[in-house]
Amino acid sequence: MQNLDEHTITDEAIRRLEGCKDARFKEILTSLTRHLHAFAREVKLTEAEWMQGIEYLTAVGHKCDDKRQEFILLSDTLGLSMLVVALNNRKPAGCTEATVFGPFHTDKASDFKNGDDISGGAPGEPAFISGTVRAADGTPIANAVVDVWQADGDGIYDVQYTDKNGALFARGRLHTDAQGKYAFKSILPEFYSIPTDGPVGEWIRRAGRHPFRPAHLHFMIQAPGYEKLVTHVFRSDDKYLDSDAVFGVRSSLISDWVRKEPGTAPDGSRMDKPVYTLDFDFVLPREAH
Ligand code: BEZ
Ligand code: FE
Repeated sequence: MQNLDEHTITDEAIRRLEGCKDARFKEILTSLTRHLHAFAREVKLTEAEWMQGIEYLTAVGHKCDDKRQEFILLSDTLGLSMLVVALNNRKPAGCTEATVFGPFHTDKASDFKNGDDISGGAPGEPAFISGTVRAADGTPIANAVVDVWQADGDGIYDVQYTDKNGALFARGRLHTDAQGKYAFKSILPEFYSIPTDGPVGEWIRRAGRHPFRPAHLHFMIQAPGYEKLVTHVFRSDDKYLDSDAVFGVRSSLISDWVRKEPGTAPDGSRMDKPVYTLDFDFVLPREAH
């Protein structure tokens, strides 16, 4: 077709997908084409603005490497990651809600036993975290894999440091015991800034938004026969709970981290500083067959 104009080009671009054999790919491309064209029409996109957009996405790509995923950060800050989480994690009543995965998980974390200290000496206030993993009917889930990661007390993840020879800390993999219980020592999470030294930081500043995430601990929990859960537990006293930079807060995931004065810690050791305790249970839906 020739002489396409602003009114006819969208239908023609979609018609060209007719030969696509992969039905899902065709559905996604058709919708993407329709929405992208509608966006350009709605804002009356200028050629200079379009070129700026291309240059911006190029810069996002250039910022990515094996340690830094600027596209995930872009998706997170636009609210797209949390939208996809919400669409794909409608949990039955009583089950723990999911939230964003984020860019700082690694499969290389070490295995720990229940009760171990996973902090690896990371700066921060000592904290004892424990709870149970169970099914919606209350059955404890034994031997579930509980993968945990968090920023240190300075609000930085181990994988963000460039001067520590790749050392991992404040993360680890545990297994629930026969009663479905997990327990470990770590540090109290603090609010932190998402990385702002790249193109995402640039747009956040230009939009007048702040880059902070409320204090949280990441959990990924897996057990055969149950749906995988990717979630956080937030601190109830955080000032950013209502304005998380990546839209990830669910009120059901906010919990009190209880401050205990110096004395005997939950593991029986003597603590000369205050310690914090978190008791949080996770409920997993059974996997659909
Ligand atoms: C995180 O919680 O680790 C995170 C999530 C999204 C963007 C940046 C960090
Ligand atoms: Fe985080």
